[in-house]
Amino acid sequence: MNRKYRKTLIAGNWKMNKTPSETKAFMSELKGLLPKGRWCDIALCVPAVCIPAAVRAMRETRVGIGAENCNANPSGAYTGEISTSMLTDAGCKYVIVGHSERRAMGETDADVNAKALAALDAGLVPIICCGESLEQREAGITEEWITMQIKLALAGISEDKIRKIVIAYEPIWAIGTGRTATPEQAEEVCQHIRVVVRKLFGSKNARATTILYGGSMNEKNAYELLAQPDIDGGLIGGASLVPSKFVKIIEDANQPTA
Ligand code: PGA
Repeated sequence: MNRKYRKTLIAGNWKMNKTPSETKAFMSELKGLLPKGRWCDIALCVPAVCIPAAVRAMRETRVGIGAENCNANPSGAYTGEISTSMLTDAGCKYVIVGHSERRAMGETDADVNAKALAALDAGLVPIICCGESLEQREAGITEEWITMQIKLALAGISEDKIRKIVIAYEPIWAIGTGRTATPEQAEEVCQHIRVVVRKLFGSKNARATTILYGGSMNEKNAYELLAQPDIDGGLIGGASLVPSKFVKIIEDANQPTA
């Protein structure tokens, strides 16, 4: 982390977990446990049907609610889809785009780019995900792959909007597997992502970009990951479903930084 130049963000990704009633119970427990300090931004990206309950529960807190996906079109005949204006009107501040689980369902780099642009237009913070498979890592093409994903995801984003994005590096082999990247492995790729952003948008913008690590980050390994200079927070799946674990990770963001 580097709190001098950029925001730290601890973001939960609930995936397809919890009902609206369970959301209400989770949020009231979380409120009782939240640390008082303001050392990081906090987000919880929840299933679409849980958004109203989450927003209502967290209104007076510093926890921003987000969605896990959006459609890039403003409105129309897209049965089952949710637009960015629906999300902002419902009280969302964030939206995850390009999660590997959605890419596995057919989301392309062009879709990810369109969603990021639509999110920014609506005033949402897109949490843009990238990450390599185990096969790609073992073939030694992680950097090339990540460079391509980032360049395609950020295409057409204007200079004035680039500071509103968040990038999440999530190696696919580490998601939900309990096999976390080592702090060094995670730092290496997050640092590389910053280099890619620098080449595209200049050093000041790169320095100001929040880059998260995600993939089996939990209350036990978060401190070491967050101690890396280019890891500005986490995108947390499993451990964000338990208030005490999520809060421990938030507390781990309160450590000395460069
Ligand atoms: P995990 O998920 O923390 O359960 O590995 C992270 C994510 O997919 O965002």
